[in-house]
Amino acid sequence: MLAVAVLAAGKGTRMKSSLPKVLQPLAGATLLERVIKNSSCLNPDRLLLIVGHQAERVQQQLQNHPGKPEFILQQPQNGTGHAIQQLMAPLAEFDGNLLVLNGDVPLLKQETLAQLLAMHCQSGAEATLLTAMLENPNGYGRVFSNNDGEVTAIVEDRDCDCEQRQNKLINAGIYCFKWSALKKVLPTLSSENDQGELYLTDTIAMLNNAKHLIVSDISEITGINDRQQLADCEAMLQDRIRQHWLKEGVSFIDPKSCTISEETQFGRDVVVEPQCHFRGNCKIGNSCRIGPGSLIIDAEIGNDATVLMSVINSAKIGDGCNIGPFAHLRPQADLGENVRIGNFVEIKKSTIGSGSKVNHLSYIGDAKLGLNVNVGAGTITANYDGKNKHLSTIGDNSKTGANSVLVAPVTIGSNVVIGAGSTITKDVQDNSLAIGRARQYNKENYQSLN
Ligand code: UD1
Ligand code: CA
Repeated sequence: MLAVAVLAAGKGTRMKSSLPKVLQPLAGATLLERVIKNSSCLNPDRLLLIVGHQAERVQQQLQNHPGKPEFILQQPQNGTGHAIQQLMAPLAEFDGNLLVLNGDVPLLKQETLAQLLAMHCQSGAEATLLTAMLENPNGYGRVFSNNDGEVTAIVEDRDCDCEQRQNKLINAGIYCFKWSALKKVLPTLSSENDQGELYLTDTIAMLNNAKHLIVSDISEITGINDRQQLADCEAMLQDRIRQHWLKEGVSFIDPKSCTISEETQFGRDVVVEPQCHFRGNCKIGNSCRIGPGSLIIDAEIGNDATVLMSVINSAKIGDGCNIGPFAHLRPQADLGENVRIGNFVEIKKSTIGSGSKVNHLSYIGDAKLGLNVNVGAGTITANYDGKNKHLSTIGDNSKTGANSVLVAPVTIGSNVVIGAGSTITKDVQDNSLAIGRARQYNKENYQSLN
């Protein structure tokens, strides 16, 4: 049996935030969501979240989590040992291993946790913890071991003497305990330390044969106590994601200038130019060229597409499309193949058929365009009457002249030509020319009359 407990009751004073620390976002997910996800591969029988500071807010955010967490209230928050003492009642009948995770250590790899658990089970230790050698161990608890590699004590940074502080082996805040052994020593913790709190780390010296597993990739064990560490973790996570995609055949011209969500998927031979950002659930096909300077959110882009200096949000772009510079594709823009969207064009909730072009200065909203439509510069679909949105339809091979306004609801047939500067309020039949503007009147000799 395995229970996972996450320490998530602390305030996170050093963040200087109204948000509880474990709800701080890191690359699109909260610290707490990340910590839970890291342990989900172990399929724990119980998931216990210890909450305290702004408990309701934390609980509200996590109550529908698929891991079915049990929320354990720690009030007041009297240290990490006190937090685990709150499990005495809910785990009274439990017999197995307890994996304790710090809610503020978000970048642990699933393999590392699996390795920790395997080592713990094989060695028969009453406790096994993750450690790391840090060049700068400031702020972390220091881990001391004997010649047999057994951990004898953990001393918090603020409780260390000068000599102890030289030790670079640190406690990562991730522990596997034999619950039957831990529950015997938990009630004996004392608060005789600099913070006057009950420390979970003090149990280690009281348990038999405590072992530790040294993690070599320090990004995994970085704890987040302040905004600097939050930014550091964001940078480390981004490094990991970019390295993954570099290995998978994506080129980055200036990798560090780009950010990518973990959900984003790229095909082969994609080139990402500088200053591009991919957020949410993006899917980019093979041989696309994105950037420089584009923001792509929850978008699906086919193969061989080009996006230059544009914002694409919840839109779908077919193979061979050419977007930008300075285009804005908004939710439910759905482009067929080889569509051209040019400068200063905004598309919202519209289907644009293959081969169509919207090249300059247009707004296309709530519209359905057929194949090979040519939308003239400055064409606007006037979709909103002040109360409701209405649909504009344009058939295959039609052309709108520059500065046309299509007042929706309106249907333009196929092979239609619309004269420049027209305001179209009535439907137009296939193969027609529609002109809806005042006739030009020239007053001759106007100047000489004055
Ligand atoms: C803790 C460890 C330290 C380790 C470091 C790794 C202790 C005493 N120290 O120090 O050895 O090197 O993590 O990152 O455990 N929390 C509660 N209830 C409380 C206090 C804290 O749930 O009463 C939670 C916090 O929300 C946080 C976690 O426990 O998620 C760790 O608390 P924090 O105060 O950040 O401990 P550190 O000083 O970082
Ligand atoms: Ca911490």
